[in-house]
Formats: sequence, structure tokens, C-alpha cells
Amino acid sequence: MIDTVSNLKAMVENGEALSAQLKKVAFRPRARKNLELTFGPGRAADLIGRTPEALTKAEAKGRLPAPKIGANGRRYYTLEDLTLIRQSLGIIPGKQAHEPAVVLAVQNFKGGVGKSTITKHLADYLALQGLRVLVVDCDPQASTSSLFDVDQEELWDSDETLAHFLAPSAPLSEFRRTIRDTAWPTTKIVPSSLGLGEIEWHMVAGAEGREEIMRRFGLLRAGISQVRREFDVMLLDPPPAMGFLGMNVMAAASGLVVPVPARQLDFLSTIHFMTNIADTLEALNEYNMGVNYDFIRVVASNYSRSADGEAGMLRILQQMCGTNMLTNPILASEEIKNSVQEFRSVYESDKPISSHKTFTRCRDNLDLVFSEILHVIRQQWPSTSLTGFGDQNMLDGEAA
Ligand SMILES: Nc1ncnc2c1ncn2[C@@H]1O[C@H](COP(=O)(O)OP(=O)(O)OP(=O)(O)O)[C@@H](O)[C@H]1O
Ligand SMILES: [Mg+2]
Repeated sequence: MIDTVSNLKAMVENGEALSAQLKKVAFRPRARKNLELTFGPGRAADLIGRTPEALTKAEAKGRLPAPKIGANGRRYYTLEDLTLIRQSLGIIPGKQAHEPAVVLAVQNFKGGVGKSTITKHLADYLALQGLRVLVVDCDPQASTSSLFDVDQEELWDSDETLAHFLAPSAPLSEFRRTIRDTAWPTTKIVPSSLGLGEIEWHMVAGAEGREEIMRRFGLLRAGISQVRREFDVMLLDPPPAMGFLGMNVMAAASGLVVPVPARQLDFLSTIHFMTNIADTLEALNEYNMGVNYDFIRVVASNYSRSADGEAGMLRILQQMCGTNMLTNPILASEEIKNSVQEFRSVYESDKPISSHKTFTRCRDNLDLVFSEILHVIRQQWPSTSLTGFGDQNMLDGEAA
């Protein structure tokens, strides 16, 4: 019989010696994503919550800069233009300065239900609405980080990672150092790195005594509280397991979105998951963590009406969850599958990968589902009803 440990150590030694080469091949260096999104007047007006006519009038009156004109003679706007327009018109799409960000975990302990896909698409949708978003990738698989172009090679030796922050001796102030820019002007990310899985082991191994255990469960929550007022929404993407990282996500979240495929096994595992959340919250609260979510919304994910039994399972899910369930399911879409394979969301390009019809259907469906989530998010900020968001009169009246 071979000695397993020395066998493994020999492989590690070889691997370390080869690591320079490994870094070159293991991670395909990708150019940073260059977002060249442009919006026609209709879509731009929609995104800022005004009518196209109101936009034109404000431009004619000089309240807004003249729009850019494309080679085809049509007006268009960039993401930066939308931010400028919102600022010029005093539109605040997110929270007021004194309010805390909504910390939304896309949570389910089951793997492959669409957590990372939803996190990325929801982040991009919220950014389009003008919100400041912080994505925290808490999964060592780092799928969401890849979707935001985080280069794992660059993180190889970096101490600016979530793993570094969660190391038992790191001070809380280190959290801010883990935040980095993305291609989206108002979205930032705390990326996951290869070391995150290892950290989980260290976190559990050395935890002794009630106070120390409590501190470790609450590390992510303490970290994000340092920057919570600087973002409108924080999106947490957990690993598909209830380990130390999962507990940190549960303790840090202020609300949950739970993706559930409408299939029997997933349904049963969801009942199990709900029991598990309740038990976990009780356990966390025994440690005086005071975790009580402002909302839980279940969403049917990767849903196909024509697939065997899914329509029936969707109805059962709806009966089970009542008003905790989003009205619209996220449809299974080739467009999503193909975009994710190209490391991007369907919001990051105006060119369909499949047909124009599939692309439009997919975007319309996501918009519908995410507008329900945005509604729940806005309900957490009582002041949003006072900011004039959605109040057409402010601009229409003035421009008339
Ligand atoms: N609506 C959808 N339409 C088509 N494919 C989808 C859809 N949602 C997710 N997928 C695909 O399903 C797979 C799993 O999705 P994803 O990685 O987001 O799940 P996850 O819950 O984050 O998984 P894990 O538990 O491993 O982190 C991916 O290949 C993704 O492209
Ligand atoms: Mg995932």
C-alpha cells in the first residue's frame, strides 16, 4: 500500500515547482470586459423612469446635455449618460444616504439551482436601474467572479480577497481592501479566490469558546457593515453547502431570494432547506446574532412549462410559499446558458447569441422577475416613495 500523505505531498511539491507554468495555462487570460452598451431614447427613458417625450423636452430646454447621435442618425445614450441624466434631474433610484443597503443572499443549499446565474443577472439588472451594487462571491468555485471578469491568476498571491479577510486574525478594516471595480460603473465585487475553500477549514478548526464562535459566524456581517451605507444593494452568492461560509452568509443577509427548480426532488430539498434555515436562525440567535429577515422570496428557476410535470410542480410550490413566492418564474433559456458559457450576462450585449426572438423573450422574462425583486428592495427604504422616483410629474410637468 502506498503512503497517501507522502504521495499527496510529492504531488504538491511537483505542482509548486510547476506553478509558474500552471498559472499561464490554468487560467485563460481574458481581456477585461469592455461594456459598450448603448440605449435608444425609449429604453433610456424607461430606465430613468420618465417618458421619451419628457427626455426630449428636457434636452431641448438645455436641462440635459444634447444626446449623442450614431452613424445611423439616431440618438443614443451610454450607461454613464444615464447616470448623468439621473443626477441632473435629481432622480435617486436607490436609497437615501442614511439608509442601509439591502443585503440580499441568493440562497439555497442545493447545488446547480441557478444561484450564481441569478446573482450576476440581478446585479446587472439593478445596475441598469442606476443602483450601486456590491456583489460578494462567497463560493470557492468563484463562478460569479468569473462572470465579472475577475482574473484568478491575479488573485493567486493577493491578500485583497475575501479569504484573506475571513482569516481568523484579519482586522475588520481589511474588508474594504477586498472590494474591486467591475466593468459596470456602479457595480463592485468582493471576489472569491482559490483560497476560500481552505479558509473554511481554518475557521472551524481553531474556533473555541462561545464568543469566538459567534465572532466567526458574524465576520462577513461585520465586514459588510463597514461599507453598508455606500451601496444600495449587496448580493451574496453562497456555496451550495451549509458550512462556515454558508452560515456567514445567513448571518449577514437582510433578505433571501431562494431559487428552486420546479422539479419534485428540488421541491423536497426546498422543504428541507426551509427547515434548515429556521434551525440555523435559531442557532445563530442562541448566539445573540439577532438574525431576522425582512423578506424571503422563492423563485422558480430554470423553468420550462413544456417539461414533464414542471407546470404542476410550479403550482405546488406556489401553494406552499403563498405570498413569499415571486409571481413570475425564471424561464429556462438557451440565451442564458450560452451567455454564461461566454462569461457574461444577457444584459451585457445587445447582440443575441441565439435568435432575436429568444433573446427578447429571455430579457423580457428576466426584467419581469427582477422588477418584482426590485419592488421588494424598494419597500425596505421608506424614503424612496418621497424621492420622486416613478413620479412622472416632476419632469413632465416642468417640461410641458
Ligand atoms: N434560466 C436558465 N436557463 C438556462 N440555463 C440556466 C438557467 N439558470 C441556470 N442555468 C444553467 O444551470 C447551470 C447551474 O447554474 P448556476 O451555476 O447558476 O447554479 P448554482 O446554484 O450557482 O450552482 P452551485 O450550487 O454549484 O454554485 C449553469 O450551467 C447555468 O448556465
Ligand atoms: Mg454558484
